[in-house]
Amino acid sequence: MKLFGQGRAAVADDPATAGRLGWGVRRRSRPDPELILAPREGDPRREPWVAPPWHRPALGLETLRRGSARQPNWTYLAGAPGVARELARLAEPAGPRGWSVGLAGLGRVGGVAATILAATPSRTSGVRELVIHDVDAANQQRWLLELGSIARWRGRGELPLVRAGGPQEIFERCDAFLFAATDGVPPLGTQGEVRLVQLAPNRAILRGFLAEARRADFAGLFLIVSDPVEWLAQAAFFDSNSDRSGRFTGAGLAPERVAGLGLGVMWGRALAAARRKGWGETIARRGAAFGPHSAEVVAFDDVARPDRQRSERLSRAARECNLKVRGLGHLPYVGPGVSSVGLMVPPLLAGREVLASVFVDGIYFGAPARQAWGLYPTTRRMADEVWSALGNLHARLRAQARALGLLWE
Ligand SMILES: NC(=O)c1ccc[n+]([C@@H]2O[C@H](COP(=O)([O-])OP(=O)(O)OC[C@H]3O[C@@H](n4cnc5c(N)ncnc54)[C@H](O)[C@@H]3O)[C@@H](O)[C@H]2O)c1
Repeated sequence: MKLFGQGRAAVADDPATAGRLGWGVRRRSRPDPELILAPREGDPRREPWVAPPWHRPALGLETLRRGSARQPNWTYLAGAPGVARELARLAEPAGPRGWSVGLAGLGRVGGVAATILAATPSRTSGVRELVIHDVDAANQQRWLLELGSIARWRGRGELPLVRAGGPQEIFERCDAFLFAATDGVPPLGTQGEVRLVQLAPNRAILRGFLAEARRADFAGLFLIVSDPVEWLAQAAFFDSNSDRSGRFTGAGLAPERVAGLGLGVMWGRALAAARRKGWGETIARRGAAFGPHSAEVVAFDDVARPDRQRSERLSRAARECNLKVRGLGHLPYVGPGVSSVGLMVPPLLAGREVLASVFVDGIYFGAPARQAWGLYPTTRRMADEVWSALGNLHARLRAQARALGLLWE
């Protein structure tokens, strides 16, 4: 095997990609690389561009239930021009410095999420600093003062440093970006859908951030909190990789570096219903939620051996709890800010399993997942009825993505 590159990652047997990266043949004096990257065949509009040895993109949705034998190397798609940026960043020294996390949108959800992250010691969360931004300057300053006042009397472990910064600074210095901004959440009393209606205005805001990310050659994690979570994640991948006439360029964000964070609160809502019934402990061990941050989410009490009635009850709780809070005269934001973001980001950064919407066979799909450079779905034993429910849901969402004009085919 011929290796190219002198960093912690080396490309195997692909002189063309090595040439694009400016990587020469690996010198004998260099230690063995930590990661070996081998080219793979595949469609960059449907698959992660870079994948760790435990993830086989070609399995598509099957990866949720069928593991594959661990391959020796990481793999990448040589075809997409943006892959070179990803490989170059992957080869940089990892370093123990902790994550710099940017957060745009300090509203109800973003404010609660920022509070949890600012109150969690860096050594627990992995977050070294939090760079906050809001288009409303007074609101940004208020949150800077509020978060800056979070302190512990002689506590052990430093809290993250909180600073304010514009989008340009966020993309130049941060390793991960959280998008929690919105043009407006439909007010109380709104009948019907409250998430999808935010797509056009929030996508317009997102475009500004994508332009800044492109200018900064951002290769960090791009995490969507705002609604509609999955469609905005899809729009982030689609818009950053489309030219003026809508053709795929492959020069923008890598799909596996984009993810949606909205399934955490759905699971929290299902779990709360289970606890009320006294099933909480079993469900916390054997259950899971899948699908979008919408009324199409599905939850199971036991993924390997589901009880239909229990699973239906959990799914209903996940789907309807936000409407109950609204019915009481309040917008739901504490559960979302804490469960989808504040408690989800630290394990995500640490590479532990989380609930997130990740790129599976061309669309963003909520599932248990793990971050290893990008985010990839994890595998678990699954009953046939769970598998067929997920297959149908994925197909429906793909059709919806096409109808929304968020696919290139
Ligand atoms: N992921 C989840 O679990 C989850 C759950 C509930 C709600 N949400 C969604 O989260 C989003 C935020 O909800 P919220 O209740 O916090 O809204 P909010 O109206 O309270 O806050 C939105 C914030 O975004 C800011 N903003 C607007 N345009 C901006 C821009 N261009 N740059 C920076 N900041 C900008 C506003 O000034 C405001 O502070 C909504 O889309 C909501 O539907 C997500």
